[in-house]
Amino acid sequence: MLSLKTSKIADTETIWHLRNDVATRRELGLKLISYSECLDWVANIVEGKSKETLLIAKDDKLGIVGFVTLQYDNDVAHIGVSIGSAFRGRGYGQHTIKLATEYEMGLTRPMNRRLLAHIRSENYKALFAFESAGYKEIGMDKQEQHEYFIYEYK
Ligand SMILES: CC(C)(COP(=O)(O)OP(=O)(O)OC[C@H]1O[C@@H](n2cnc3c(N)ncnc32)[C@H](O)[C@@H]1OP(=O)(O)O)[C@@H](O)C(=O)NCCC(=O)NCCS
Repeated sequence: MLSLKTSKIADTETIWHLRNDVATRRELGLKLISYSECLDWVANIVEGKSKETLLIAKDDKLGIVGFVTLQYDNDVAHIGVSIGSAFRGRGYGQHTIKLATEYEMGLTRPMNRRLLAHIRSENYKALFAFESAGYKEIGMDKQEQHEYFIYEYK
């Protein structure tokens, strides 16, 4: 069974490995980060110093398979999901997005916050995963020569 939990400092090493996963960095265009940068990032969130939520996706048998970030900007929450490459193609991506969406909707329903994802146009697995979780394309964006689809949970 898969569940989402808010991250703890003790999860940092696993999050660091997932964050630096080669496939993830290629798909998201991210640079490597050091362990201390990752620790600062997680610690700021855990201590409530950052306008970001970090959730870990944990399988009963396999442990942490991925993580979700929710970044807040007024009435919008931007969702990002990463599943470790060893765990992909088994439905964890879709399931994690569904659970994170329920989590966010449960938290913010009274505030009517919009939930958006920016996904590179060539990242077809992410596009499928967000569509399966109930997101719809609402537009496109271009940043640093990459095209992004903007998806919103409807
Ligand atoms: C995008 C990502 C989360 C998907 O995770 P995943 O666990 O592999 O995804 P799922 O197993 O839930 O599959 C998602 C969809 O992709 C399809 N898919 C997965 N692997 C596939 C493959 N090798 N070939 C074809 N389709 C594939 C699935 O069939 C599913 O589509 P469906 O809903 O139409 O059936 C994962 O690849 C990832 O972490 N990527 C790096 C970070 C990223 O790109 N995040 C998205 C932007 S925030």
